[in-house]
Amino acid sequence: TTKKFTVEKIDYIYERLRTQITSNESSITSQSYVFFIIGASGDLAKRKIYPTLWWLYRDGVLPKNISFIGYSRSQLTIEQIFENSHKYMKIQEDEHDIYEKFLKLNSYISGSYDKSEDFENLNSKANKISHQVNAHRLFYLALPPNVYESVSELISKHCRAASPGWLRLIIEKPFGKDLESSNKFSQHLNKLYTEEEIYRIDHYLGKEMVQNILVLRFSNRIFSRVWNRDSIAGVQIIFKEKIGTHRHGSYFDEVGIIRDVIQNHLMQILSILAMEKPRSTTGEDIRDEKVKVLRCIAPIKLENVIVGQYIGDKKSTDSERQLGYLDDKNVPKDSTTPTYAQIIVFIKNERWDGVPFILRAVRSKALNERKAEIRIQFRDVPGRMFDEELSENNVEGTLARDELVIRIQPDEAIYLKINTKRPGEMNFSIEETELDLTYNERYQGVKLPNAYERLILDVFMGSKINFVRSDELQEAWRIIDPILAEIEKKKLQIIPYKFGAIGIREAFDAAVKQGFIYT
Ligand code: NDP
Ligand code: BG6
Repeated sequence: TTKKFTVEKIDYIYERLRTQITSNESSITSQSYVFFIIGASGDLAKRKIYPTLWWLYRDGVLPKNISFIGYSRSQLTIEQIFENSHKYMKIQEDEHDIYEKFLKLNSYISGSYDKSEDFENLNSKANKISHQVNAHRLFYLALPPNVYESVSELISKHCRAASPGWLRLIIEKPFGKDLESSNKFSQHLNKLYTEEEIYRIDHYLGKEMVQNILVLRFSNRIFSRVWNRDSIAGVQIIFKEKIGTHRHGSYFDEVGIIRDVIQNHLMQILSILAMEKPRSTTGEDIRDEKVKVLRCIAPIKLENVIVGQYIGDKKSTDSERQLGYLDDKNVPKDSTTPTYAQIIVFIKNERWDGVPFILRAVRSKALNERKAEIRIQFRDVPGRMFDEELSENNVEGTLARDELVIRIQPDEAIYLKINTKRPGEMNFSIEETELDLTYNERYQGVKLPNAYERLILDVFMGSKINFVRSDELQEAWRIIDPILAEIEKKKLQIIPYKFGAIGIREAFDAAVKQGFIYT
């Protein structure tokens, strides 16, 4: 019943995690933990990491003996760091005491990213604060990638805990900018760390509905029987972003939409949607299957790629809408970086041969909504039993296709579009409707932890399910790299689209050509 899920503030997921953390560590009751935020002065630390640590601490799901150390080059105090982060922390009236306690567990130290003595200093500080040389250590690298190599090396050299303390290194994307640089960085890390110690974050793996794909697919016979080329006509994985690139114009221009979200977030979703059933729910078994299916993806053809870039809508009354991507002063005037991309991929295996997987991503305020969703469209019903009724009722002559939609954000939902008899009518009048599982309605009162909360907890627990393994990364680049090179080399036409446009005509046409039907 719904009731089971309607708990106050801390939901059952938290309770479960709390039990797991304490029981995992029950043999070492006095074990301390130190969480390092390297790049503490930066944007990610301010907007995501500090607020997440605060929420986890507030909700009592972190280990008891824990301290947090921020590190970067800027000369700052921990109070200044917290001030910068304050507006993202959303502290409630009655939380001030516990917030003060959290603040006291935090400290800050400044130092370089390339000098041994600074990391020795950081190590001494950690020993002192935790009163243990063997405290478990978690390092979050919230830094630009140009310093990943030196920082990861110095951490490994100077900041390892004495046994039995372990070290876990959390790294943010981008993991390279192409196959070669990604492999080079992986090799660098492999010299210093075991794969066990490395946690590559793809925050989409921490989202509720992405995690739900596994359950949906493998615990429902109704879906497992039809999850293949016999029943599915096509799959769309769609990412639309309302916020513009203005804050990150120079970063974005180097990267483009394909590297920014398709190579990682959308590829990850694709692999979970399409993989075979893993042997178990362990991280290794799941990731083995994800890699296997990625290996079956055929080289992408340039004809299956559409790229676009948004232009301002000069007629708009909204001044922001008047500006196009090239109006950003951090973007070169002749930039051909796509803010829109659609890539159609095919998986050459027995389950999926011939089924188009359409990955579509737009980052800018140029499209009319923020959304991430998966649309699985089923094949037409064979036999034409309702043809007469359809024409009589003037319903474009064919039955609408069933479609399963998994809405990742906003407003998590799963709904299945089906045909039904129009209620009350005497004949077989048909209309399309939905079997609807909208989370806000079905699970009222349940607090869904955000992606960073889940993922940081996963690191504490040593769970690798939701982190990217090096071979997954390598496969994702193997698929994307050649097409990036070809787009560049063949100067693929970049289609302009207006701020606020619904989409790009050519991209919809390409999807239709692959057999997708828009209703
Ligand atoms: P920032 O640009 O804010 O950099 C973080 C810190 O690194 C800065 O405060 C600065 O600290 C130091 N730094 C900045 N530039 C340089 C440089 N050229 N050389 C050496 N140090 C430098 O990055 P973000 O916090 O935005 O991102 C951190 C990482 O997380 C990046 O890899 C990014 O791609 C990734 N990421 C970020 C997201 C976000 O929302 N911000 C989302 C997803 C991933 P100081 O000068 O004090 O040393
Ligand atoms: C990041 C991309 O990885 O994901 C950003 O670098 C994008 O460009 C963001 O905006 C989207 O994340 P979310 O969780 O807001 O959908």
